[in-house]
Amino acid sequence: MDVSGKHMSDNRTKPIVGFAEVDFNSEPFLTDFKKVYEGMHASGCPFAHSPRGDHYAVASHTEIMKILKQYDVWKAKFGPALNYLESPGVLVSVDPPEHTFEVRIVSASFSKEVFEGMVPEMEAFVNERIDSVFEKGETDLHELLSVSLPMFVIFRLLGIERYDEDGTDRFEWTRDGIVNSVGLMLVPPDEVAQMIESGNIEQVRMQNLVRTNELFVKQLAETKSKLASGEWQGGQNLVTRFLTTPGPDGTFLTEDKILGFMGFLLTAGSATTTIMLSNIIYRLLTEEGTFDRVMNDPALIPLAIEETLRLDAPVQGLFRTNDEEVELGSVHLEKDTKVMLLWAAGNLDPEVFENPMKFDLDRDLGKVRRHLAFGYGTHFCRGAPLARLEGEVFLRTVMQRFNNLRLNGEVVMEKRIPVLQGILKLPVAWDT
Ligand code: HEM
Repeated sequence: MDVSGKHMSDNRTKPIVGFAEVDFNSEPFLTDFKKVYEGMHASGCPFAHSPRGDHYAVASHTEIMKILKQYDVWKAKFGPALNYLESPGVLVSVDPPEHTFEVRIVSASFSKEVFEGMVPEMEAFVNERIDSVFEKGETDLHELLSVSLPMFVIFRLLGIERYDEDGTDRFEWTRDGIVNSVGLMLVPPDEVAQMIESGNIEQVRMQNLVRTNELFVKQLAETKSKLASGEWQGGQNLVTRFLTTPGPDGTFLTEDKILGFMGFLLTAGSATTTIMLSNIIYRLLTEEGTFDRVMNDPALIPLAIEETLRLDAPVQGLFRTNDEEVELGSVHLEKDTKVMLLWAAGNLDPEVFENPMKFDLDRDLGKVRRHLAFGYGTHFCRGAPLARLEGEVFLRTVMQRFNNLRLNGEVVMEKRIPVLQGILKLPVAWDT
C-alpha cells in the first residue's frame, strides 16, 4: 500500500480515446523516443497514457508549463519517479514550505562564487585526463571525460576523496549505483522485485548502491568529527555547509535529510551532466561544419550547449501528482494520479521552437533557453549554472587540445534507463 492509502493495483488511469498509448519501458520507445514525441505533437493531443505503470504523460511545452504554474494542484511530494514515495524525500520530492527551507540551505552552497571557484580544478582535471591518452590518438571520450568530470566535481563539492583506503576508484562503483537507482525510476514497483529475482537487475549494481550509501554515512560521520576538532570549517564543502547552515526558522537539517541530499546530488549532478557532455561533442561532430564554427568563434559555446540541451535533453521526464481532482486535456483525474512531464518532448514542441528537430546554431540564445531540460519553476535545477560551467570548460578544453577531432567507430546509445537517454560510448580520434 502506498502512503496515499491506495493499493498500487488500484489503477487511477486508463487508455483514453485520442491519447497516445506509450510504454516508456518498451523497446520501440527506447529505440526512437523522438518519433513518439513528434507523433504526440502532430496528433493535436499531446497526452499519453502508459499501459505499464499506471500514469499519464504530457508532451506539450504549454501544457507542461501550465501544470508547473498550478502550484496548489500539482505537487512533488510523492516523488519524481513512478513509484509513490513512502518516506519523505528531499528537494524534488518535497513542496513548500519544507522545500523553501531546503532550498535556502542549498542556495547558500550553490553560489556562483563556489561554482566559478572550481573552474581551475576542472580545467586541470580535464587536461590531466587528456594527457593520459593523448599520444594514443584515440579514446572513448564518454569514458575519459563525460563520466569522470561530473563525478570529479560532485566528489569535490561533497568533500569526498576519489580513492578508497584500499585504493579502489570510488568513481567506478558509485556510478554503478547511480545507474541502478535511476534505471528503476520508471519501473512499476511490482516489477522491481521480479527483476531482482530473475537477475535482470545485476546483483553487483545493487551491492554498489548499498556501498555508495555506506560511503555517505561514513563521510557524514567524518565531516562531523573534522568540524568538531576544528580541522574543517563551515565553508569547507557542501556537507559542512549542510551541517552548519540553519534554515529560515533557525533549525538545522537532520542527518537523514543530509544523507538524502548527498545521494540526490550525486545522482542529479553526475549522470545528467555526463549525458549532456557527450551529446555536445556528438552533435558538433555530426552536424556538418558546426565543430569548426564553434572552434573559430568560442562565443558560440553557450548556444551550442543550450541547443544540445534543447534537442537532446538528458532527462526525458519526471513526475508530479495532483493534490485535488483536476482535468488533464479531456480527462478528469482523481486525486493522487501520477503524471509525467516530458521535458525532452516539450523541447521539441513546434509551437515553441521553429523547426524543432534541427540542430541550429543560428537560433536566438534567449529563445533556446526556454527549453525545459532543467525543468521550470519551484524545482528548477539548482545545479544548472554548474552543469553549464562544466560544459564550457569541457568544450573549450577539448577544442584547444585535440586537432582534427573525429568520430572513430560506433557510437553506442544507453538503453537501460528510460528516464535518462544518451550516449554510452563515444569513440573519437585526433591527430597527434
Ligand atoms: C545537464 C545536467 C542536468 C540536467 C539535465 C538536470 C535536470 C534537472 C531537472 C529536469 C530538474 C527538475 C526536476 C523537477 O522539476 O521535477 C532538476 C532539479 C535539480 N537538479 Fe539538476 N540537472 C542537471 C545537473 C545538475 C547538477 C550538476 C546538479 C548539482 C550538482 C543538479 C542539482 C539539482 C537539484 C538540487 C535539483 C532540485 C531542485 C529543487 O527541487 O528545488 N542538477 N535537474
